[in-house]
Amino acid sequence: MGVPALIVAAGSGQRLGAGGPKALVELAGRPLYAWSVDAFRRATHIDRIFVAVPPGQAGLFTEPGIVTVEGGETRSHSVANGLAAITAEGDPGLVVVHDAARPLVSPALIDAAVIGLDSDSGLHALIAAAPVTDTVKRLGEEGVVAETLDRSQLVAVQTPQVFRVEMLQRAIEAGDLAAATDDAALVEAVGGSVGVIESPSGNIKVTVPGDLELAAHFLEGSR
Ligand code: C5P
Repeated sequence: MGVPALIVAAGSGQRLGAGGPKALVELAGRPLYAWSVDAFRRATHIDRIFVAVPPGQAGLFTEPGIVTVEGGETRSHSVANGLAAITAEGDPGLVVVHDAARPLVSPALIDAAVIGLDSDSGLHALIAAAPVTDTVKRLGEEGVVAETLDRSQLVAVQTPQVFRVEMLQRAIEAGDLAAATDDAALVEAVGGSVGVIESPSGNIKVTVPGDLELAAHFLEGSR
């Protein structure tokens, strides 16, 4: 089985302070997004790689074998644009969405997520998530703690996220794309059933400069 992947890489990277698109920031000798492209190339169940890029900057995304698509105003708009490009070639059944900001994703996690959704007809999506190790509290008015949440019921959501294409399309059409922080939330909002697959602790997201140092440390250690 081979399914398409959509790597969203159209963010501005303001929090990283790189002065340009985050996806092009150098990490261990290559642009950040290239590490994700590499992992998807090595995954057994991926047959095409689409990358959503900042508008007007496709020429800077030179990894071989990728299809670039113009990203949108928010992450979910970028996903919508990418999905439109993918389905223009026909309905592939499943699609994997991944943030370029998670360069340490493993081919094994990608394959396990694809196989996991393909073999569970009761699910509309299967998303990578990590157990929450900190205690999480919800703040009320004026920043005072209102509630301590039950940690055993919480997970921190990551990517890759695998979707049934028809369900993701429906969720995007109905959803508030400006407010969504992940696509699975859009699927949940239209009543879709979303499962989780545990991701290894190394699948970090590069958001601030310290994350880049940490990711470089992991990548250089694994060479
Ligand atoms: O900003 P944040 O770190 O949440 O972005 C998550 C991912 O979504 C990043 O890989 C970023 O490049 C991507 N993104 C996008 N289009 C946007 C905003 C973010 O593809 N308009």
